Amino acid sequence: MKFPVANPFYLFFLHFFLIILICCECYTPPDNIALNCGTSGLSSSPDGRIWTGDIPYIASSSGKPNFRSSKPSPLSTLPYDTASVSQSEFTYAFRLRSSGPIFIRLHFFPSSYQDFASSKAFFSVKANQFTLTNFSAYAVTAEEHMVKEYCIYVGEDKSVKITFTPSHIQPGAYAFINGIEIVSMPPDLYYVSHRERDNVGNKNGRYNLPNDTALEMVLRLNVGGGFIYPMKDTGMYRSWQTDDEYVNDGGAVPVGNTTELRFIKIANYCAPNELYSTARTMGPNRTKNQSYNLTWSLPLDPQSQEVPYLVRLHFCEFQPEINSVGDRIFIIYMANLTAEEHADVISWTGNNGRDIPIYKDYFVYINPGEEKKHNFLLALQTGPVSETGRSDVILNGLEVFKLSDSYYNLAGPNLDLLPLFPIAPPNPTSRPGVSKMLIAVILGVPCWV
Ligand SMILES: *[C@@H]1O[C@H](CO)[C@@H](O)[C@H](O)[C@H]1NC(C)=O
Ligand SMILES: *[C@@H]1O[C@H](CO)[C@@H](O)[C@H](O)[C@H]1NC(C)=O
Ligand SMILES: *[C@@H]1O[C@H](CO)[C@@H](O)[C@H](O)[C@H]1NC(C)=O
Ligand SMILES: *[C@@H]1O[C@H](CO)[C@@H](O)[C@H](O)[C@H]1NC(C)=O
Ligand SMILES: *[C@@H]1O[C@H](CO)[C@@H](O)[C@H](O)[C@H]1NC(C)=O
Ligand SMILES: *[C@@H]1O[C@H](CO)[C@@H](O)[C@H](O)[C@H]1NC(C)=O
Ligand SMILES: *[C@@H]1O[C@H](CO)[C@@H](O)[C@H](O)[C@H]1NC(C)=O
Repeated sequence: MKFPVANPFYLFFLHFFLIILICCECYTPPDNIALNCGTSGLSSSPDGRIWTGDIPYIASSSGKPNFRSSKPSPLSTLPYDTASVSQSEFTYAFRLRSSGPIFIRLHFFPSSYQDFASSKAFFSVKANQFTLTNFSAYAVTAEEHMVKEYCIYVGEDKSVKITFTPSHIQPGAYAFINGIEIVSMPPDLYYVSHRERDNVGNKNGRYNLPNDTALEMVLRLNVGGGFIYPMKDTGMYRSWQTDDEYVNDGGAVPVGNTTELRFIKIANYCAPNELYSTARTMGPNRTKNQSYNLTWSLPLDPQSQEVPYLVRLHFCEFQPEINSVGDRIFIIYMANLTAEEHADVISWTGNNGRDIPIYKDYFVYINPGEEKKHNFLLALQTGPVSETGRSDVILNGLEVFKLSDSYYNLAGPNLDLLPLFPIAPPNPTSRPGVSKMLIAVILGVPCWV
């Protein structure tokens, strides 16, 4: 067979596969299950991921859900075009290859599934002992697909059971699910910490994350950069949103010119290289730099007093003018409390120069207030002129997790869901060949390896 290497289409595809190989090299999850609910057999989503039908995973003792398709919609690409739907409780049972922490991702596309009206979709989801969510399609105004991501710790029995229970309160309520992912993660990604974690302004002192705590990912932002699709994560299929809608004053958005990041402080699977090659800093004016805070406002559910949020800040100094300790010192405030008085990324990375990614974890308490959503403020302020070479701040990435409470509960009293995921749907008007090409282009951005 002839292989026209000069053809740009083939080059694109070579490039595309190389990138996937490179980006996924960081970590290979021992368990990697993607269920396309409401189907049987294998299917592949537009990004090339392989999904399996959900029948083999439905526990035999449980009620059998019906398979349904939603009405055609440009948004309903796999796994969102089919669902498993039931008015009685049903359970998926998984026997994994390894114990330890896993991601559970639940994919929902609230829609009318044939004779099931979307207004009657009202149910709760449990995974092992944890209540993950109370889902109500009412809370979702537009037809939008969404992903809810959780982390739980799987014990030595390596078993995971996920149960969907329609509400007993609403007559005719039903549960549905479009897609389920189970993906392993390295034990030290979120649960085990090799470094100190700071409690911001707290008296109760909770410095570690016990393995009987479940996490719900609330926000995962590529600060100053673009959306990072699951296939461009480090092998765990996380997606990273842009921070545009959360940052109050955009500041400056420098882009790194790094050929090689040096992972000497954290493992290379913690976040994609792309995340560390963009950042936000302040504007070009010294007077202005010193007179404002670079601030993100993040809408969070208030939690009970004892349960903090885990906030992870990602940093990487890549600007040529920042080289040594003291070049850039800044202050980090969370919820108006001081989280860092002398943030100095070069110092944190051991005064070894630029291009060394690092993250810092903080536990923050968002106390119940009157409002449904609390505006959590993350504010960065320049350090005192006497201490810092430049009056500037930097942030490359941000992750926020809600922690389960002592009743193993993560579901909030309000049933709101955050829409996520501007998945790249194939252009419905274009020919199939063209849409494949489009995906290659979207994923084909260099990943700074
Ligand atoms: C969870 O932590 C407890 C105590 O820290 C430990 O005894 C137990 O083995 C851990 N469970 C798993 C599944 O690792
Ligand atoms: C990027 O790096 C290359 C080679 O190291 C250099 O020639 C170029 O000037 C740099 N560009 C910027 C914008 O710093
Ligand atoms: C810098 O900002 C200050 C305060 O906003 C303003 O008064 C000054 O004119 C600015 N300087 C420049 C060079 O833009
Ligand atoms: C922080 O202070 C600002 C005003 O300075 C206020 O609007 C906001 O609600 C405060 N946030 C918290 C978490 O206290
Ligand atoms: C920055 O935020 C801190 C904490 O909320 C506040 O004390 C300080 O006044 C703010 N600085 C400016 C310039 O707004
Ligand atoms: C203010 O921030 C800008 C943008 O990062 C930076 O270029 C500039 O050097 C800062 N000003 C001072 C005086 O450090
Ligand atoms: C979830 O909704 C059910 C009603 O369907 C309610 O009984 C339960 O308390 C809710 N859970 C939480 C945590 O609000």
